[in-house]
Amino acid sequence: MASNITWHDQAVSQEERWKLGGHRGAVVWFTGLSGAGKSSVANAVEKMLNTRHNIRTYLLDGDNIRHGLCQDLGFSAEDRAENIRRVGQVSKLMADSGVVTLAALISPYRRDRDSVRESVNSVAPFLEIYVQASLETCESRDPKGLYKMARQGKIKGFTGIDDPYEEPFSPELRNRRIGQGSLCPHSRKSKTMINSQDFQ
Ligand code: PPS
Repeated sequence: MASNITWHDQAVSQEERWKLGGHRGAVVWFTGLSGAGKSSVANAVEKMLNTRHNIRTYLLDGDNIRHGLCQDLGFSAEDRAENIRRVGQVSKLMADSGVVTLAALISPYRRDRDSVRESVNSVAPFLEIYVQASLETCESRDPKGLYKMARQGKIKGFTGIDDPYEEPFSPELRNRRIGQGSLCPHSRKSKTMINSQDFQ
């Protein structure tokens, strides 16, 4: 942060903004491999919250954000960290304003997700959702043909192929894996259901 910067208190409080909006703000963060279904699940959740429960929402999708706010960033660990930091800060502001903000980014590094959690938690609830699908499943779907290109060496540093993905240890929520129990062995507190009361 630059020096000689002063924090200004603002006239309208978070409590007043949230009261006017009828519900609190929150950040719902979807993480997982490319092709795991982050965007699909986030879109379905947003639609449900918005149309069925009158909750004001906004979806920040990694691919879309990289067309604007983060168009200068690539996929090195440093650039991914900056990508997550920027989207995390935008999410935090939007949640503080009273919007339930959904973010769908691979966000492969635990430390980047944890620092967004810590930052957001100073103003609003942060829910990490692990959209879990095996690399084999994602690669077989390959909706954009990117896994094929990564295997051919045409894309370097592709998550899951030659770049890491660090699974969340204790996400608030994870999807149920077909044919398995709902919880991963190292995550006893994860739920597999979310409902609108989580935002009221
Ligand atoms: S990150 O890691 O959180 O900064 O990535 P994100 O902003 O979510 O962007 C992921 C989308 O970028 C495409 N893409 C890649 N993904 C992973 N690794 C590499 N090298 C890469 N290059 C391009 C890909 O379409 C991702 O979209 P999703 O929706 O996850 O499939």
